[in-house]
Amino acid sequence: MRPIKFVDLAAQNAEVRDDIERELAQIHSQCAYVGGAAVEAFEREFADFLGVRHAIGVGSGTDALRLALMAAGLGPGDQVITTPMTFIATAAAIQQSGARPVFVDVDPETGNLSPRGLRRYLERRANGTARLPRAIVPVHLYGLPAAMNEIGAIAREFGLKVIEDACQAHGASWRGPSGETVMAGTQGLAGCFSFYPGKNLGAWGEAGAVVTNDDQLAERVRLLRDHGRISHYAHREFGYNARLDAIQAAVLRAKLRRLGEWNERRRKVARLYRKLLGSTCLSLSAEPEGMVSANHLFVVRTPARDLLREALVRNEIQCGIHYPVPLHLQPACRELRHSPGDFPVSETMADTVLSLPMHPHLTDTEVGRVAQVVRDALGGYRELLAGGLRQMATSSPLPPRRR
Ligand SMILES: Cc1ncc(COP(=O)(O)O)c(C=O)c1O
Repeated sequence: MRPIKFVDLAAQNAEVRDDIERELAQIHSQCAYVGGAAVEAFEREFADFLGVRHAIGVGSGTDALRLALMAAGLGPGDQVITTPMTFIATAAAIQQSGARPVFVDVDPETGNLSPRGLRRYLERRANGTARLPRAIVPVHLYGLPAAMNEIGAIAREFGLKVIEDACQAHGASWRGPSGETVMAGTQGLAGCFSFYPGKNLGAWGEAGAVVTNDDQLAERVRLLRDHGRISHYAHREFGYNARLDAIQAAVLRAKLRRLGEWNERRRKVARLYRKLLGSTCLSLSAEPEGMVSANHLFVVRTPARDLLREALVRNEIQCGIHYPVPLHLQPACRELRHSPGDFPVSETMADTVLSLPMHPHLTDTEVGRVAQVVRDALGGYRELLAGGLRQMATSSPLPPRRR
């Protein structure tokens, strides 16, 4: 049997190769490799796709987050809230902007920032003497939008800026307070995207974008991504080299044209997984009313995670764990002085999550095979548990504890 891939970039490339080669020929003829027409065209098309005024191409999702935070005026002395259940880059970008990351735990149903936890944290802080955090970076984890209507309302109440980490959520959306569709990345002051190759919209290398409706923020991100440049040899401030290159823009333009169709296929794959696995003891992440996930990852949760993973690997089915260690327990975050138990929901998630293959070229037969292996492995686990319980019931009682 053929192995089942976790993501299938070769299948994507086969679909877009002709378009990309035409674009590349153009780039080579103009020798415009950094910035230039291809980058500007992609920025316009991505902004139109999201319905925002500005999309600014940058070198990666991490650059997008760092530059958006800096352009929003965050820096040394500021605190920025996010969750510990995300990729390290979310907290790294906050730290690199000069601010300090502050964690609030996630909602057990969705894995996204808990609005209840956020409010509790802010109310407690508002009663103290220390300064309140100045911003929130909600993460749309696995492609599922965070509870942005509630988070937006809390942010307004406490005067916090919102910078969305939409690095996993290209094309996700939710129903806004007046029933309107809001695209992930467009509600906050800025939204940040990664185009790392495995994302729903992926480049052939590193790439990212900041999107915003705020003209001033857009201008500042443009300065920061290009050495603070205002003309060829005039620099208003020290900036960074965080530009998007033309080859990545060409790839992204070709893939953006297919993103809607690819996301639709991901939705069908997710629906099929839910149908085939809905009656098992696995926890499947909730998709709250009004939310449209980008289904970047299909993550299941079970205490039998390691056993399940072994069964998948044995059957040549690739899988992943996103993420095995919550950020507050990462060595990189040691200065934040957290301990196990500080964010129990994130810790339980880290111990139980498993990402199944998810990409737009997965066939129904492949999804069926993954589901069958999962169901068989869970059957084995139930037997193991039942055997253990029987043994406990029939074995002699434990000797009394010594005092
Ligand atoms: C949630 C999240 N934030 C930030 C990033 C950083 O993006 P990049 O790898 O493009 O720097 C990623 C990428 O994996 C991500 O998944």
